[in-house]
Amino acid sequence: MRSYTTRMATPADLPDREERAAALDAAGYNLFDLDADRVFVDLLTDSGTGTMSDDQWAALHRGDESYAGSSSFRRLREAVDDVMGFDRVLPAHQGRGAENVLYGTLVAEGDYVLNNTHFDTTRAHVAANGAEAVDCPVPAARDPDADDPFKGNFDVEAARARVQEVGAENVPVVVLTITNNSAAGQPVSVANTREVAAFADEVDATFVIDACRFAENAHFVTEREAEFADASAAEVAREQLGYADALVMSAKKDGLSNIGGFVAVDDGFDDLFERAKQRTILYEGFPTYGGLAGRDIEAMAVGLREAVDDDYLAHRVEQVATLGAELAAAGLPIYEPVGGHAVYVDAGAALDHVPSEAFPGQALACELYLEGGVRTVELGSFAFPETQRPEYVRFAVPRRTYHREHFEHVGETAAAVVDRSDELTGFEVVDEPPMRELRHFSADLRPLDS
Ligand code: F0G
Repeated sequence: MRSYTTRMATPADLPDREERAAALDAAGYNLFDLDADRVFVDLLTDSGTGTMSDDQWAALHRGDESYAGSSSFRRLREAVDDVMGFDRVLPAHQGRGAENVLYGTLVAEGDYVLNNTHFDTTRAHVAANGAEAVDCPVPAARDPDADDPFKGNFDVEAARARVQEVGAENVPVVVLTITNNSAAGQPVSVANTREVAAFADEVDATFVIDACRFAENAHFVTEREAEFADASAAEVAREQLGYADALVMSAKKDGLSNIGGFVAVDDGFDDLFERAKQRTILYEGFPTYGGLAGRDIEAMAVGLREAVDDDYLAHRVEQVATLGAELAAAGLPIYEPVGGHAVYVDAGAALDHVPSEAFPGQALACELYLEGGVRTVELGSFAFPETQRPEYVRFAVPRRTYHREHFEHVGETAAAVVDRSDELTGFEVVDEPPMRELRHFSADLRPLDS
């Protein structure tokens, strides 16, 4: 059994209720606009918000800040090779930087990109290159109660039908996102990965894995896929990633780092690697630092190795499950099974008197802050206008950062909110940016009168 001790203490204070109400009002009821020191338990994202290990802090001191050919880069390349099985690596400042490099190289105007579910920045990079992002989740992904071990899987039949419509020549890339963030952090099986690899081959597309949460995915595989019952997460990760032609990675998740990412390309894709390398130079930096300090690269190299440790992963997934149990006990309808990085709550069901136009997810998220200083994120009709998504609120758990007392506080806060949920009225948007797809980062809202 693994636990973590903390030897750098960051005080977190719960502002009193009037201060929380004033902070929420000043933020225009947009939780992205809150000052983080006004937040007591911050579950906005698991991205870059985790706690580094003592080994990572030690490695920072080794950072080689050479512009070209740094030994820190060499150590990253060795780590990516050992952990993920790819020895051609292009660092980037974070996941979306890596997406810009890779999708800018692979995707052109009029193309279609198929993915189990596109994460927002992935969708935006596909669109920025003039292509259309097509989601192909399995039907179970949309059912928060379906009892299925791999609700993150890619629906190959649906994808094949789509390729028949649009023509294989217009589908240059097939992407598998593991775990499937936009489908409640659900895992993807290795069997499904093999099918998707074969499908990509059949339509002559490059097979990319978005590996942000590859280690959490591997842990679920060891628990749920019979073929891997005796395997370690490290073995599963190498097997699963081995089917990909290229990886896109945000090290802010399963790199256990506060910043960083990379593209990795398989042997045999020389042309892709060379073109991506040129794009890295243009947008990120020389390919041995890619927009990062040498010390950040060191932290990533160590973090990647720690991320596939079975004891760490058991602790990690258990923390998220504990939060899920707290929220369910508080009476909130949670997406089940609980995913690898976050608990998703169906605010549409929790606040069934608040219509979609009044953003039930935002109503729940704001009330959780008001009640207990807990910050979450709405991922429903406020964040994704006109997409008919379920009204989810995501409670993401930063890695190695919080303890049981925090999850209990979130549970108590949720129970108090559930108790007076009838009183919640919802919100209207009073000001939003021209690009509506990005409005949840900056729009202002106003509570509706009861
Ligand atoms: N792909 C997936 C599946 C992601 O979840 C994210 C980020 C990215 C790519 C982009 O990586 O943030 O390093 O640029 N997800 C974060 C989240 C922001 O909160 O889910 P990035």
